[in-house]
Amino acid sequence: QLDFRVDSVLKLMTLKEKIGQLNQYNGFWEITGPTPKEGQAAKKYADLKNGLVGSMLNVKGVKDVRALQKIAVEETRLGIPLIFGFDVIHGYKTISPIPLAEAASWDLKEIKKSAAIAAEEAASVGLNWTFAPMVDVSRDARWGRVMEGAGEDPYLGSQIAIARVQGFQGDDLKARNTILACAKHFAAYAFAESGRDYNTVDIGESTLQNIVFPPFKAAADAGVRTFMNSFNELNGIPATGNAYLQRKILKSDWGFEGFVVSDWGSINEMIPHGFAKDSKQAAEIAINAGSDMDMESSAYVDHLETLVKEGKVKETLIDDAARRILRVKFELGLFDNPYLYCDENYEKETLGKAAFQEGVLEMAKKSIVLLKNEKELLPLKKSGQKIVVIGVLANDKTSPLGSWRIAADDNSAVSLLEGLQKYEGNQLTYAKGADVTVGRTQFIWETKINTTDKSGFAEAIAAAKNADVVIMSLGEHGLQSGEGRSRTDIGLPGVQQELLEEVYKVNPNIVLVLNNGRPLAIPWADAHIPAIVEAWHLGTQSGNAIAQVLYGDYNPSGKLPMTFPRNVGQLPIYYNYKNTGRPVMNEPESVFWSHYIDEKNTPLYPFGYGLSYTQFEYSDLSLSQKSFSGDGQIEVSVNVKNTGKYKGKEVVQLYIRDLIASVTRPVKELKGFEMIELQAGASQKVIFTINKKTIEFFTANSKWEAEPGDFKVFVGGNSVQTLERDFQYLK
Ligand code: IFM
Repeated sequence: QLDFRVDSVLKLMTLKEKIGQLNQYNGFWEITGPTPKEGQAAKKYADLKNGLVGSMLNVKGVKDVRALQKIAVEETRLGIPLIFGFDVIHGYKTISPIPLAEAASWDLKEIKKSAAIAAEEAASVGLNWTFAPMVDVSRDARWGRVMEGAGEDPYLGSQIAIARVQGFQGDDLKARNTILACAKHFAAYAFAESGRDYNTVDIGESTLQNIVFPPFKAAADAGVRTFMNSFNELNGIPATGNAYLQRKILKSDWGFEGFVVSDWGSINEMIPHGFAKDSKQAAEIAINAGSDMDMESSAYVDHLETLVKEGKVKETLIDDAARRILRVKFELGLFDNPYLYCDENYEKETLGKAAFQEGVLEMAKKSIVLLKNEKELLPLKKSGQKIVVIGVLANDKTSPLGSWRIAADDNSAVSLLEGLQKYEGNQLTYAKGADVTVGRTQFIWETKINTTDKSGFAEAIAAAKNADVVIMSLGEHGLQSGEGRSRTDIGLPGVQQELLEEVYKVNPNIVLVLNNGRPLAIPWADAHIPAIVEAWHLGTQSGNAIAQVLYGDYNPSGKLPMTFPRNVGQLPIYYNYKNTGRPVMNEPESVFWSHYIDEKNTPLYPFGYGLSYTQFEYSDLSLSQKSFSGDGQIEVSVNVKNTGKYKGKEVVQLYIRDLIASVTRPVKELKGFEMIELQAGASQKVIFTINKKTIEFFTANSKWEAEPGDFKVFVGGNSVQTLERDFQYLK
């Protein structure tokens, strides 16, 4: 019946009107790409009135959405409603932790809930569509957009992709608390050479199939309605003009029935890529390759009609793209009521609801990772302590919102200082120490890394001298990661490292609270500072979440979704690396091994790592049988005991290794995890299942298959410290 309704609209449309559906314009206010050229507003407005716009982005608020929808519905010949898209990446106005931080929770229910909160709030302001989740598997912390994804692992990334798609889209797209999700950026955007945003990507099919594609496939299988392609070229072909990615893999192999939107201006960017000579040729390449909607290039609306008339583009392709977009509009209920999402009262009731605050606080606590805790510095004692807080980020109410929080008000987060002030039993003093400068230009935040100003050092050092505990809140401002914010040095920005070392000289009882949107290389801190807490950019409730963890009202349970290097020179670094012909993990016996002469191969903190205030002991790893074949399975069980003094949560992780294969396999691959909660002294048996699906990969036959042979299974609390056993898969 849906197809019938879609086709009946399509039949009424002229070629020009169908092309109009494939055109998406930015609204007239905010931007999330290069500044538009002068004088475009008039053309956009005219196109809108002529039915030549199918969707808009960056329009927000019921008033503005209604005004533009009214033009589309009441002033164009066919009155086809617009879809309004927006980057609701980790919340709309109520901001949850950055996605990388949420991934550190490994808590799929909480992540789904967080996406559902974002969807409800965004839908209340008239939006129908988020450009999220970003499901790019990321191995290079120099790339600023690692903050926006779920880290380095395809399995964890796939589980989180499903949770986020379900959270945004819910069960019913017509409901007033759901929005369309968008799996982006298809594909391999995170593999930009040297971590520089938008840079060239050149990777082989095995990496593409086994590492890059799985979260996209999982999102497609979970019913995501839209995909976004990406800015990068992949092996010489820009993703936007890549028929292998969009037509073969996505639409044919995976049977994706939703639509693909280009990234901002990425159709025209095929010109500087050296792939199209002008906007007209770019439009021809993009539509033929399967890009259905043109975001901000104007290439489709300007050239597709001529291209069809010249026989360079088949009208059936335009029909297919328009059909995909119209179908989604029907699914959203926009044809039945174009103003379904335009209710001012509902908007007022919903924006910033108290229940949202509780939700993002819960998510923020679960996202925190305890990296080090010596001398029992944490949890903090609740009374009788002199505590000094140092670092400009501790007193910042904007930075915790992180990157991609366009609709949130500046200064709307709870700062760390405010969170700590709620615990009144201790004496609290604050000193700024050093700046981490950012500034606003007309449209967008600019980030500068202040490298010289040490004028705040003396005050911070004097305050630290008399403290029982010094809490240093250091790292990146929320806008020092994200799109276009690649870094070549991933240490503490500016003079913060010097500040840390100077304060340490007068008082080593330091709790380092890291704020960052990417893994940082902090080997000195790891060697000297007794307690280190990874607090990312945690959103609106940041300060409350960190304070509750520092004081032990929440026992930290997060585990790193991305490897932390010792040195930027190790990048890209990831746990599921290949062994090489000359493997070495410790100090080599001679130079002729795969290693560095100035640094270890091992990371500072591995994937899956994170401590608790309590301790967990793993024992009795056993397999129900030593081998399986066909559709059989093996049960893997392990005993986990809480040997510490607090109740705590632990993420029990299962990895495998395929020893010999037709294509070399990683030394470890995550294949399962389970979060358990144990009282002090309690134990639990955790059971995982290994079957054919667990060991399948993209083989030398260019198929997903399970190859018979010898395997290892590992279980532990991170990717390095594990118990292991052997098993076999028999034909
Ligand atoms: O969704 C984003 C994308 O991730 C990067 N370019 C701009 C798009 C729309 O804002």
